[in-house]
This record gives sequence, structure tokens and C-alpha cells, in this order.
Amino acid sequence: MAGVTDAPFRRLCREHGAGMATTEMISSDTRLWRSKKTRSRLSALDREQAPVCIQIAGSEPKAMAEAAKQAMDFGADIIDINMGCPAKKVCRKLAGSALLRNTPLVEHILHSVVKAVAIPVTLKTRTGWDKEHKNGVAIAKIAEQAGIQALTVHGRTRACRFDGVAEYDTIAEIVSALSIPVVANGDINTPQKAVQVLRYTGAAAVMIGRPALGNPWIFEQVERYISTGELPKNPSLDIRREILLRHLRQLTDFYGEQVGVRIARKHVRWYLETYPNITPFLKHFNQLHTSQSQQEAVTDFLRRPETHEEKVA
Ligand SMILES: Cc1cc2nc3c(=O)[nH]c(=O)nc-3n(C[C@H](O)[C@H](O)[C@H](O)COP(=O)(O)O)c2cc1C
Repeated sequence: MAGVTDAPFRRLCREHGAGMATTEMISSDTRLWRSKKTRSRLSALDREQAPVCIQIAGSEPKAMAEAAKQAMDFGADIIDINMGCPAKKVCRKLAGSALLRNTPLVEHILHSVVKAVAIPVTLKTRTGWDKEHKNGVAIAKIAEQAGIQALTVHGRTRACRFDGVAEYDTIAEIVSALSIPVVANGDINTPQKAVQVLRYTGAAAVMIGRPALGNPWIFEQVERYISTGELPKNPSLDIRREILLRHLRQLTDFYGEQVGVRIARKHVRWYLETYPNITPFLKHFNQLHTSQSQQEAVTDFLRRPETHEEKVA
């Protein structure tokens, strides 16, 4: 997820049971790769996080092939192609989910990228362009024929953006139409929902995005529920505090103090937003300018007796 799944957050999710974590999407325009933002998206792709999966977005088959090659040089074990992003900035360039309207171009891009690299190429897509043009199955078949090795489908159309609820019927149809593994995605926010969606769609795996924000232990909870049928509790407040403090330290280590402190603000909001009386705390927290003071504030907040109530789901 752009702006979220940076190296520190991916590491945290992997440590808490995610089988794989993909980079934020990176433009296929490799001239931009010299920018600080893209370099940070590509950097620290250490082997500890293997398999390293780099996601690229673009609409030019040649540029996408070149980007895939360069991503491989950066240490990618898997290249993921983004055809799911509905953001205007991305769609204006006919990339992301805008491609779903142009199946010949989809075919051309997928063939070019698969041919360019010797590592697996995967695709992330949606169920279609809009309700009247749900061409997810057609796109999926094109992908399989092009040599895509796994497909993730977000159960919304491009037009739905993030509105309404994800639907899994189209994902089930795609699973039946393909032999490659299909990963179901969209609104999978509890271990029970993960199991329900796996059963309903027949998908090989689930992908979890927003429900992991401030909640990276969801992966081990899903894992445990799938393997034992036991519904795990949330980690204790002490463990959650340790996870959050470690996350803050890793943000500073990765980005440096100034940027790390800024990025920490949104994560802390995600971690703590369901606690009682959080608004004044966040207001105060957002004015802190050092990682040390952020860590002290979080520690202090989580020690207050009223915080010791179970987090409201
Ligand atoms: C802030 C944000 C950034 C995202 N960035 C990406 C991205 O870079 N690449 C991608 O494939 N999907 C991206 N997505 C979509 C998610 O991967 C996922 O498909 C979508 O949020 C639905 O799944 P969820 O309900 O588990 O969040 C993004 C979503 C959000 C909310």
C-alpha cells in the first residue's frame, strides 16, 4: 500500500505472520527512481524479507519490462504488476486500474514483463472497470496465458474505488476459471472473515491491507485460526506497546529522525484510534518532534489506568 507498506511496516507484518509483503507501488518510469521517495521505496529490501516482491505500475510495455529488470537488480524475487490502483494520478497516465479498459494493452504489458525477467511475475487487479464492465475473468485469463504466476483480486471494480463492500462472487468465478493461484482481497478484517472468504472463493490465499493498519498481529491471528480453528485474542497491552515502540524505533532508524517522526504520526493514530479519549492525546502527540518524546508519550498513554480497558474493536 502506497504510503504505508514501507520496509519497517513490511518487516513488522512479516514478523507477525504475513507470508509475504509487497512494496508500495513504484512507477515504471525508472528516471524517477533517483528521487528520494522512490529510493526509499526500493531500499532496505534486505534478504531478511525474502521473498522480496516489488510492485510496479505503468502503461508502457517497454518501460514496464525495463522497470521489471531494474527491480530485479534491486533484489526483487517477484515482480508484481499493479492494475488495481484507482488513484487519479495513476489512472490519468492510463496505469493502475485504468488499464482494465484496454485488454490488448494489458496483454501486451503482461507478455513484455514476463518475457523480460527470469523471476515470477504476479498481477494485482480488480473485478473490472465498473458494474457494467466486470471483466475480471477475461483479464485473469489473459494474465494466466501471459505467464503470470499468481493473481490477486480486490473484490471491487475500479468505479467502486474503496466504497461499499467487497464482493467475492467474481473472485470465485476467477478461481474456477484459472489454474494459477488466486489471492482474494478486500475487507478481510478478521480471522473468521479470512476463513469464510477462502472457503467461499476457493482462493489459495488472502491478502490483507487496511485491516493491518495499527494491527499487524492480524496475520498471526489469521494463520492460527486457519491452522488450529482456535480464535486468538488480541495480544496483551504490554505486547502491543512493545510492538508499537519497536515500530517507532524502526521508522527513525530507516528514515532518520525528522521523517521518521512525521511518518510515525499516522501509524500511532492507527494503533490507538479505538482507545477511549484518544483525540487529545493525538493532538499532543502530533506536536512532538523527537522520536524519544514520541516513545515516552506512547508509553505514558498506554500506562494510564483508563487505557487498560480492552481495546474496543
Ligand atoms: C492508502 C492505500 C494505498 C494503497 N496502495 C496500493 C498499492 O500501492 N498497490 C496496490 O496494489 N494496492 C494498493 N492499495 C489497495 C490495497 O492493496 C487493497 O487492495 C485494498 O485496500 C483492499 O483491501 P483491504 O480491504 O484489505 O484494504 C492501497 C490501498 C490504500 C488504502
